[in-house]
Amino acid sequence: MTSEGIGFGKAILFNEHFVVYGIPSIVSAIGNYTTAKIDDTATPGWTLEDNRKATPGYKEDKKDQQQDSINKILNKMNIELSTKGIHITLAGNLYCASGIGASAASCVAIARALSKHYNMDLNDEQINEIAYEGEKGYHGTPSGVDNSAATYGGLIWFQKTEDGPHIETIPLQQPLEIVIGNTGKVADTKAAVAGVKTRKETEPEKYEELFKQAENIAYLARDALADGDLKEIGKLMNQNHKLLQHLEVSSRELDFLVHLARKAGALGAKLTGGGLGGNMLALSPGRKLQDTVANAIEKEGFQTIRTTVGSTRNQGV
Ligand code: MEV
Repeated sequence: MTSEGIGFGKAILFNEHFVVYGIPSIVSAIGNYTTAKIDDTATPGWTLEDNRKATPGYKEDKKDQQQDSINKILNKMNIELSTKGIHITLAGNLYCASGIGASAASCVAIARALSKHYNMDLNDEQINEIAYEGEKGYHGTPSGVDNSAATYGGLIWFQKTEDGPHIETIPLQQPLEIVIGNTGKVADTKAAVAGVKTRKETEPEKYEELFKQAENIAYLARDALADGDLKEIGKLMNQNHKLLQHLEVSSRELDFLVHLARKAGALGAKLTGGGLGGNMLALSPGRKLQDTVANAIEKEGFQTIRTTVGSTRNQGV
């Protein structure tokens, strides 16, 4: 028997890193997704065929973390593979790179496929919890923002609280065009998160101030999104990038792509995801501006994804 599941990629519009400490963040699923297919095998244990397209080095770098992640997912789902085994095949149109939620998308896709395969009929909340366990294999202490976007789709307000994640859908008047620019550098989210933790401990006052500003930006951005005030959203994205630079999670390449995007007319641009390489994101409403911004980045030899935020919804995937 073959069973399939999917998980969306994501773009964090506001407050990556800050979200780890309970500051609200705004994240959107993107149209690109990962699929997982499960087939039975006669040999105990699991095997993997990873057919996803990826930044060179990405899959090799994440191999151990991926193995750990799949074991964590199986463990959380109480799936025993001591007599029969399974073969997992990953594919889909989400190009794997740091910062666009490739790990979370795969965790959700695998959890959904396993749920179907073993007739568990799990709901989204349960899938999200399982994917969160899987994300621990990659991130150590994930906030849960990536797996939530990968599970639910759409544009969401995400806040980590002591009672679990607080997730709200943010309604958009219409989907917004964005450009995601890939620095081509594979980055380690675990290391980026650990770096912020260390610096936060050494400079508590500076970080407290940055955290206050990040929180303020999240609330202003939510209002601006609800009002469809695109200029304001872009301005807040630029401010958010500045805060992330202060957290020391940006990089020369990310700053360069952000600069290119703004020069080409993007309303705002910032790094997205863990930083230190990986991807950036530019707000470029309308197909024409989206093309102009993407072309400016591609002309310098970098890959882009032209997609929208707020358009994907999880409808029984
Ligand atoms: C990674 O996509 C987002 C981070 O905030 C980590 C996390 O939230 O778990 C850097």
